[in-house]
Amino acid sequence: MSKDHGIRRGLTNYGDKDFAQYLRNSFARSMGISKEMLGRPIVGIAMTPSGFNNCHRDMPQLVEAVSRGVLASGALPLPFPTVSLGEVFLNPTSMVYRNLMAMDTEEMISAQPMDAVVMIGGCDKTVPAQIMGALSADLPAIQLVTGPMSTGRHRGERLGACTDCRRFWGKHRAGEVDAEEIALVEGRLATTAGTCAVMGTASTMACIAETLGLSLPDSAAIPAVHADRLVAAERSGVAAAAMISRPIRPSEIVTKKSIENALRVLMAVSGSTNAVVHLAAIAGRVGVSISRERFNQISDETPVLVDLKPVGEGYMEDFHAAGGVGAVLQEIKHLLHLDTVDILGQTLGERLAQPIEWVDRRVIRSFADPVSPVGGLIALQGNLAPDGAIFKRAAATPGLFETEGRAVVFESLEDLSKRVDDPALDVEANDILVLKNAGPIAAGMPEAGYLPIPKKLAQKGVKDMVRISDARMSGTAFGSIVLHIAPEAAVGGPLAAVRNGDRVRLSVANKSIELLVSAEEIAERLKHLPARNDPKRGYRALYARSVMQAPDGCDFDFLIHGGAADGA
Ligand code: FES
Repeated sequence: MSKDHGIRRGLTNYGDKDFAQYLRNSFARSMGISKEMLGRPIVGIAMTPSGFNNCHRDMPQLVEAVSRGVLASGALPLPFPTVSLGEVFLNPTSMVYRNLMAMDTEEMISAQPMDAVVMIGGCDKTVPAQIMGALSADLPAIQLVTGPMSTGRHRGERLGACTDCRRFWGKHRAGEVDAEEIALVEGRLATTAGTCAVMGTASTMACIAETLGLSLPDSAAIPAVHADRLVAAERSGVAAAAMISRPIRPSEIVTKKSIENALRVLMAVSGSTNAVVHLAAIAGRVGVSISRERFNQISDETPVLVDLKPVGEGYMEDFHAAGGVGAVLQEIKHLLHLDTVDILGQTLGERLAQPIEWVDRRVIRSFADPVSPVGGLIALQGNLAPDGAIFKRAAATPGLFETEGRAVVFESLEDLSKRVDDPALDVEANDILVLKNAGPIAAGMPEAGYLPIPKKLAQKGVKDMVRISDARMSGTAFGSIVLHIAPEAAVGGPLAAVRNGDRVRLSVANKSIELLVSAEEIAERLKHLPARNDPKRGYRALYARSVMQAPDGCDFDFLIHGGAADGA
């Protein structure tokens, strides 16, 4: 092994290299690793177990299986921890900490002596954070996901987090499910290790990681508790060890072409709106950007093929059994760039030259017989969102695609929770609910864009309304919801100018979102915005100073390709 590999890599700086090597060897041997083993190439394993992350419950088994593969290939596995982000355990929202995890991942890969790395993540923000970090560290890297949960049962019905969480909560708010039943359901929604059981953000990002070429073929959808999940972990260890002598760097794998392929898959699986933000951040790490026009072109050309919740019927376990990402890629092969490469060194064309054994057409439809002829997501633009917004048409009510309505405005998340269920709230079913100050800087961009239907309307049977905000929405949610409005209200985006009673127009046909108020009046209103009160210390101050808007993936300006100077 060369001088710059394994335990000899990146010595601690004491001004005496030989001393640094001698000291490191000595301390490494205190871990009970033999001198022979210490002479081997090293595969780091970025592990993310946490008592605050249910989705990573099976991490110890996965680390063990990766280690087995690495050892069998003649290399030394060395697991190390990084930040872990459990979606529902973080305040104000996990999105604030994705960049912290990306920085941690990048720095620990770069600073510690390893020749390749397997990163194990799963829950929503962990996979994008690990990919972002790996791209910037640019050491041979493999993404392994923890895999989706299996479904639970309630009175003969299959349940999966978290689309069914929302469905039952909606029924509870409407008075259709009583307190006793909702307490029963609470214990039946998330019953195994793994990530949310539907095509939410975690599953979407797993499909994207595989499409980009950063995960093993056919690994994205294997259920967390399936034996094949451990086999995929073992094989990831083998593949990582093989990458040491045949290095393929993440920056060779993630290119404009592979990002476009990932966008195609995002459309075909009808994936999460959050993935749009994460893919923009991933693209930004390699200096790639995808225009709104190209995004919409890809959406209009790529049909929805996968029939899973939150939009359709099935769960991730069905998707795996039906053929998984490989079956989707086969159906849209003619739309893909086939010369992208993956961690195994094969091109996508070579991967897809191998036929699929069987496809369950109830779950993964053929190109000729899609769930929907166009993709699930579109980018909107207009005077209310000069830098864009996102709309998940696949999860919306077609009858609301062309809506002009009266704005019912909530100034903040606090205002929303205080007033939305107030019986005195002046709101009708054909109004448009507007939430301000829930963007990246104002609130860390929480998944608050799925505004609840005001209780008095829900109890009358109203199931959907047009709702608009600068927030995000859970990948497991559904409804006619305009998200990620940019610029956000807190930085003076026109969203800040909307007042109760203004007319707002959504047009899916025109891909536009408009505030029907004159440009002069909007400019006048924006002169009188309240001053921001950004945090002054610690990570939150760094966040407020550096976070970019949704179209730039909410990455920090100094972390993008080339750093802040390029991005300014
Ligand atoms: Fe972790 Fe849904 S809470 S993936």
